[in-house]
Amino acid sequence: MSTRHFLTLMDLSPKELGYLIQRAVELKTMLHTGQFHEPLRGKTLGMIFEKSSTRTRVSFEVAMTQFGGASVFLSPRDTQLGRGEPVEDSARVLSRMVDAVMIRTFDHDTVEQFAEYSRVPVINALTDEFHPCQLLADMQTYMEHRGAIRGRKVVWIGDGNNMCASYINAAEQFDFSLTVACPEGFDPPAPLMEEFAHRVTLERDPMKAVAGAHLVSTDVWASMGQEEEQAERARQFADYQVSPALMDRADPQAVFMHCLPAHRGEEISHDMLDDPRSVVWDQAENRLHAQKALLEFLLAGQS
Ligand code: CP
Ligand code: NVA
Repeated sequence: MSTRHFLTLMDLSPKELGYLIQRAVELKTMLHTGQFHEPLRGKTLGMIFEKSSTRTRVSFEVAMTQFGGASVFLSPRDTQLGRGEPVEDSARVLSRMVDAVMIRTFDHDTVEQFAEYSRVPVINALTDEFHPCQLLADMQTYMEHRGAIRGRKVVWIGDGNNMCASYINAAEQFDFSLTVACPEGFDPPAPLMEEFAHRVTLERDPMKAVAGAHLVSTDVWASMGQEEEQAERARQFADYQVSPALMDRADPQAVFMHCLPAHRGEEISHDMLDDPRSVVWDQAENRLHAQKALLEFLLAGQS
């Protein structure tokens, strides 16, 4: 069978994704009850980071340690990647040494190109276009707090960015409806909106968008690589802050998520993370469990 990659949520079937979420919950229980499980003994994950990270780096490294394997952190600053060695050459070489590669980079094309030349599974750990690993954690978190997300109303507030694009994929794969509330000029990519038009609705007014929502999610207004646009974006996104008052318009059972890092006073009010409807710390923890399920699936062939 050809090598499986995880570049977007569309690379796995809804059934496989459902399995990963259920397995993430099991692995979490096993860890919390002190059961050792080392299916990746002797295996190594290469981790290429061309952008900063706290959660993604730590969760992948810890995942490999807990699974009895190892990880190698590679930054362009101190590898030949930063000195212009072609992506396909790096892919050919690294994939002869490690058992899987995780990449955080700018262009989505880079991970696609890397995957094309890699002998081993490639995992997208965030590109400018998608952040699928985060969605595994988000879906696990919703299930743990509120049960099945199928048929629910999810609302994305803010920038139509990489996270939003992965929410659009998730709407299709996990069978929910998504309302996207972005200021004009910051919509998700048109081809994605068209492809999943049966799942996604655009609503400019965040107050209207959140009506009846079961899950409200947001993210920074300026993503990594957009630092220079920060001030201008803060002006354009001013009406799109998520606060307890906005959450009051959602379903009484609604939960709030943010992939983090968060900017209090910008995309969220100062008190939003402390609101009882916020599940962001569980969401952050679940990066570990969900990625363990993914690594086990891709590397140990569990399904
Ligand atoms: N949510 C997320 O991917 O966080 P990091 O940038 O810290 O990895
Ligand atoms: N949209 C953000 C997500 C960070 C986890 C970024 O790309 O910087």
